[in-house]
Amino acid sequence: MKTVLITGAGIGIGKATAHAFSKAGYRVIVTDILETEGQEVAREIKTLGGEAEFHKLDVTSTLDTNQLVEAIESRYGAIDCLVPNAGIAHKIPLDELTDENWDRTFDIDLKGMMRLVRAASPKMKEAGQGSVVCLSSIMGVAYGWDKHVHYSAAKSGVVGLVRGLAVELARDGIRVNGIAPGYIRTAQALSEKHSLGPQGLEQAASFIPMGRVGEPEDIADVIVFLASDSARYLTGQVVTVDGGLLVGRY
Ligand SMILES: NC(=O)c1ccc[n+]([C@@H]2O[C@H](COP(=O)([O-])OP(=O)(O)OC[C@H]3O[C@@H](n4cnc5c(N)ncnc54)[C@H](O)[C@@H]3O)[C@@H](O)[C@H]2O)c1
Repeated sequence: MKTVLITGAGIGIGKATAHAFSKAGYRVIVTDILETEGQEVAREIKTLGGEAEFHKLDVTSTLDTNQLVEAIESRYGAIDCLVPNAGIAHKIPLDELTDENWDRTFDIDLKGMMRLVRAASPKMKEAGQGSVVCLSSIMGVAYGWDKHVHYSAAKSGVVGLVRGLAVELARDGIRVNGIAPGYIRTAQALSEKHSLGPQGLEQAASFIPMGRVGEPEDIADVIVFLASDSARYLTGQVVTVDGGLLVGRY
């Protein structure tokens, strides 16, 4: 049975991704700082007949990331797939943006992804195979998001991370890709304080060519595809999944 480890998998896109991998036959290592939600996702998967376990993981800790990866590997061998998904998007105008705000966003949204791949890649290399799918954003690949320059910059950084890792790990049989979601109905996008909020999200639907906001499952299924053998010759790419938003807005 293949193993996937997902960060920030207690809610939103991470949660849907956990379910999608379980449906595809993977053992799912659900991780998050949200313990109740993460445990619930693992419980749901087991109730549905899948295999899952929850581990608390704050992606800003190198030590915890290394220790968790080691513990999983000692039981199941090399991890087959990593989904560095955990992210924050706080709305802060530039003149209020502190060094701490900037560093915190980068620590979670970009460095946290590197930490996980760095920890798991040695065993993946030994196994000669593996796949990584990182979460970027349309705000990282195409749009600039006002009052979120730290987020836009970190998500653009994910594109560089994906490219660099893809080349470095290609000869070891490890593929590294990314996803740039458009507007997806999750706690992040529904936040009035930090993002579009419920009303803004519904308004967005009117200018999305497919006529609706995305659901977490719309992203999860593409992540599973990218991790699968069907995408065996695909590496170093960030795939935009946005209902046609970027190509349709002019
Ligand atoms: N929702 C969207 O419209 C959208 C669009 C583009 C990109 N994304 C990206 O997709 C990913 C998932 O977003 P979402 O919408 O599901 O967000 P969400 O807010 O619903 O979930 C984010 C998850 O990350 C976790 N997290 C936060 N800080 C963490 C930390 N330090 N360590 C471990 N986990 C931590 C949270 O607990 C939560 O489970 C994020 O990287 C986000 O930036 C989302």
